[in-house]
Amino acid sequence: MSEGSPVPYPTSPRPEVLTLSPYIPGKPADEVKRELGLDRVVKLASNENPLGPSPRAMQAIQEMAASLHIYPDAAGLHLKTRLSQVHGIPASQIVLGNGSDEIIMLLGQAFVMPGDEVVMGDKTFPVYKTSTLLMGGKPVEVPLKDGFLDLEAMASAVTAHTKLVFLCNPNNPTGTMNRKAEVERFLRAIPPHVLVISDEAYAEYVGDEDYGTLLPHLKDGKNVAVLRTFSKIYGLAGLRTGYGLMPEYAAALINRVRLSFNQNALAQRAALAALDDREHVRESVRVVEEGKDYLYREFAAMGLKAYPTWGNFIMVDTGKDCQKVFQALLERGVIVRPTSAWGLHTCLRITIGTQEENDLLVEALRQVLQELQEEV
Ligand SMILES: Cc1ncc(COP(=O)(O)O)c(C=O)c1O
Repeated sequence: MSEGSPVPYPTSPRPEVLTLSPYIPGKPADEVKRELGLDRVVKLASNENPLGPSPRAMQAIQEMAASLHIYPDAAGLHLKTRLSQVHGIPASQIVLGNGSDEIIMLLGQAFVMPGDEVVMGDKTFPVYKTSTLLMGGKPVEVPLKDGFLDLEAMASAVTAHTKLVFLCNPNNPTGTMNRKAEVERFLRAIPPHVLVISDEAYAEYVGDEDYGTLLPHLKDGKNVAVLRTFSKIYGLAGLRTGYGLMPEYAAALINRVRLSFNQNALAQRAALAALDDREHVRESVRVVEEGKDYLYREFAAMGLKAYPTWGNFIMVDTGKDCQKVFQALLERGVIVRPTSAWGLHTCLRITIGTQEENDLLVEALRQVLQELQEEV
């Protein structure tokens, strides 16, 4: 048992492990359906693509089934070559991952030493903090401004001890986006020893010319990295496939840390097919754009404050205890994400679904808020 530990561990863990909280997964939709005896359950909790995977990706997976006795290509040659063409970045600057989640963890493993500081928003994607804490680093969490990452305050939080800065653009859970000019100002204020990482998991949904992606700055030779994923617009969350674009030195370091076969063969092949399925991408954007307009109108009609979003999800303030609203929606077959884990006790993060799913959500939310109102 480790000394001073409240729990008996026959083999004592590294103290950093005890600073982490386990991920608490939501219940799968079919389990909720079975438990509650519901005919239909819609999951609008994990920002997945309601249209499903790209049909081309599904076809590619079927074709690969007979080759599963072969290890994946550890260099991910085909996928990296195509990504290199798509982004205009040399393949030597591309890292593939078991989801972009894994690349966030690998960045921590490659760069963060005990006591190093890592700057991030205080309401943002939680894996940045996990990656930092696991390596004994110190997360420096900077409050958001009206739901937006406050880049000026984040730049001011950088010290001689800062190793990494994580931007999340658009930010999860708020959906907000940082613009080109503020991102440029921010980069000018960051000393060269700091690697700035822009997690752009929702980039393909943005459709705003003023989007402050860090891609052009990477091409300019700045010390920045961009993370992208196939889990969102490409609809491949279940396969676990993402990638990072970064300076060559950083990619080479990550290649020392990662497992040789960290991205499985199906994931590589399906990602390659999905990347070129422009029709699926266009249709996915259309569904989100239409759903966004519809949900904003309906939330406004219910008198709720919705945050502006550039992703495939909306954070909405229900004005009520979000755990209660979440539970009552669940009982009506609609699964959303309460934001209490971020310290936001009245908000929900809701993935934009198909029109039919959005209708179910709106109807259920209206009923639930009415009932909670009557309880008061
Ligand atoms: C901002 C952000 N980054 C990364 C991820 C993880 O993506 P992946 O499935 O590629 O690990 C998510 C998933 O929700 C996300 O919202």
